[in-house]
Amino acid sequence: MDIIHSAAALRERLRREPNNVFVPTMGNLHEGHIELIRLAKPRAACTVVSIFVNRLQFGPREDFDRYPRTLPVDAAHLEAVGVDVVFVPDEREIYPEPQTFVVEPSDLQHILEGAHRPGHFRGVATVVLKLFNLVQPHSAIFGKKDYQQYLVLRDMVKQFALPIEIIAGDTVRAADGLALSSRNGFLTAEERAEAPRLYRLLRNAHEQIINGAHDYQRIELEAMAELAHHGWHPDYVAVRRQSDLQPLHDGEREIVVVAAARLGSTRLIDNVEVLRS
Ligand code: PAJ
Repeated sequence: MDIIHSAAALRERLRREPNNVFVPTMGNLHEGHIELIRLAKPRAACTVVSIFVNRLQFGPREDFDRYPRTLPVDAAHLEAVGVDVVFVPDEREIYPEPQTFVVEPSDLQHILEGAHRPGHFRGVATVVLKLFNLVQPHSAIFGKKDYQQYLVLRDMVKQFALPIEIIAGDTVRAADGLALSSRNGFLTAEERAEAPRLYRLLRNAHEQIINGAHDYQRIELEAMAELAHHGWHPDYVAVRRQSDLQPLHDGEREIVVVAAARLGSTRLIDNVEVLRS
């Protein structure tokens, strides 16, 4: 496995590897990331993973500074799962000058996560486009854990006609249902015990919709009230259509319930897809 820090060395290394698949990450890797890599491996001769904590996608009051950076442990995991190339640029490598050109995901960037994290998806799309240009993969894998991010990047690739197949990986969870996330490490023991409630509420919403409930607003408000009652600060719980996260029209079958809420100083997001018959 090659660990590469500069864009020039990466290009040089990948000149010999036209058949590569790419998994971008911000590091502090857990089983969710590793599962994406397992999806990637059989698809190409060369599996490339990037680790870069992208300042552009963090708001001024967000956790950029405390985001965990654990390269030696990450590298051992990546080696064990058979990754070929790890790209670990520093900030000067990705942003040698202020990034004055950006990718604006127009509609999707202003709702749900975007409404609570202004500029977040602009930062994500901009860095991912840049990473795509450096790695030039034929496929890239993203987790459905970050559902809106996956849609933004899928649409970016489509609208700019990038020759890259976007593949979605299912959310990997702890045994008690909590979606794995690098941010789970910020939770106190008490918060960690409370955290699976988010997924339980999403499962409950799933159940109600499958059983024919149509009063989505009631489902959303009840879930938010339940979270608040247990000390959370919910940003949203929303029943939406999968394709673009807009409110449902009659007869919509492909549904996703998305949620974000703060527990103590940690903001958690999760979602559950619902396929109604
Ligand atoms: P990061 O949070 O490190 O996540 C990297 C990839 O792992 C993303 O595609 C994310 O959706 C996926 N992932 C995270 N937790 C997961 C879980 N429990 N199950 C399945 N997949 C999971 O997302 C980012 O980094 C950044 O925004 C990035 C795309 C790298 C751009 O900076």
